[in-house]
Amino acid sequence: MFELKITNASLPDGRTGLDIGVREGRIAAIEANLGGEAGEVIDAAGQLVAPPFVDCHFHMDATLSLGQPRYNDSGLLLEGIQIWGELKPLLTHEAVIERALTYCDLAVSQGLLAIRTHVDVCDERLLGVEALLEVKKRVAPYIDLQLVAFPQDGYYRYPGAIKLLERALDMGVEVVGGIPHFERTMADGAASVKALCEIAAERGLLVDLHCDETDDPLSRHIETLAYETQRLGLGGRVNGSHLTSMHSMDNYYVSKLLPLIAEAGVSATANPLINIGIQGRHDTYPKRRGMTRIPEMLTYGITCAFGHDCVMDPWYSLGQADMLEVASMGLHVAQMTSRDAMRQCFEAVTTGPARILHLEGYGVEVGCKADMVLLQATDTIEAIRLKATRLAVIKSGKVISRTAPRQSALSLPGRPERIDPARIGPQG
Ligand code: FE2
Repeated sequence: MFELKITNASLPDGRTGLDIGVREGRIAAIEANLGGEAGEVIDAAGQLVAPPFVDCHFHMDATLSLGQPRYNDSGLLLEGIQIWGELKPLLTHEAVIERALTYCDLAVSQGLLAIRTHVDVCDERLLGVEALLEVKKRVAPYIDLQLVAFPQDGYYRYPGAIKLLERALDMGVEVVGGIPHFERTMADGAASVKALCEIAAERGLLVDLHCDETDDPLSRHIETLAYETQRLGLGGRVNGSHLTSMHSMDNYYVSKLLPLIAEAGVSATANPLINIGIQGRHDTYPKRRGMTRIPEMLTYGITCAFGHDCVMDPWYSLGQADMLEVASMGLHVAQMTSRDAMRQCFEAVTTGPARILHLEGYGVEVGCKADMVLLQATDTIEAIRLKATRLAVIKSGKVISRTAPRQSALSLPGRPERIDPARIGPQG
């Protein structure tokens, strides 16, 4: 007896025609023509059943605050930081919680069930930390929310940040953040990387730094991050976010850098929507894209992810918690257009970030948690092409969100009356 059975599913690895049986919140069986009764049956009708989307880089304290107290007219990272600084003293505990919970509702509807969010600790009240710890507790039944103590205004540059970051960790924030390129000097930036990695090593925590989010090819804090990771034995527990300077770096230097990142076991997160929107702003033409070298890192076996970073906040006015939109932008910006590379873009919003977050029991395999998304698409490439509708989102074997399939009714002479985007093309 299964609590739930999904029939005729296609899986991200290309297997098709499989039934998935769920027992006690875990996937108990995956096979063709699976016998046994089930409390609930969902007919996948050959469509894709994937593990939930994972966003390993987000800012939930700022999300949905667009326009408060004003809009970012220049589009620059630094104006965004300035606007956020103006909003910070006006924040209330309730308002931060409300915005975050609203975002989590949206995330669930999009099949996004694990999020790593940075939370700004450069605030004597640590209001964002308190609020997001509360949100983490409230959404725990349906979203894995991981918090990063993020000194937005600089670990050394902002007076008191050193103590505030420690306090946030004492309160239960589980990842150490930083922003070395925003410190006053390159030397301070490098020193902050060293200090933050040491804190993580002492406390047994993970590290996720905003690292080299600049077009300056000489911003090389990733080199220090790889070095400190190696020195402190933190391999597999450290992530470099953004790494946009790598886009502009000298190719010879990068040829030395990539093996060092791989050796150290540092993972990389690009944020395609934000990187393409913010980087290259000081260029005339040609304008640099700014996104870090994801395909090249993948060839070195470096774990890579695409993050959303921002939705309707001082840095980005758009977004809808759709990790397929993120994957699509990453695919285009990095020109990852081969069949294999497109599949890797899907992995960059699922298995890649799941590894970075150290999620337990992640995947559509026997023994994994019964957390899944049924998409209106037959494979991962089509899912990205269509930004496929999340027909059903399943958490611990229970459906927690449903969306009607996308279908248009046409009124055209001699043409079909209905068009289903997932049934068009080679598979249809
Ligand atoms: Fe960020």
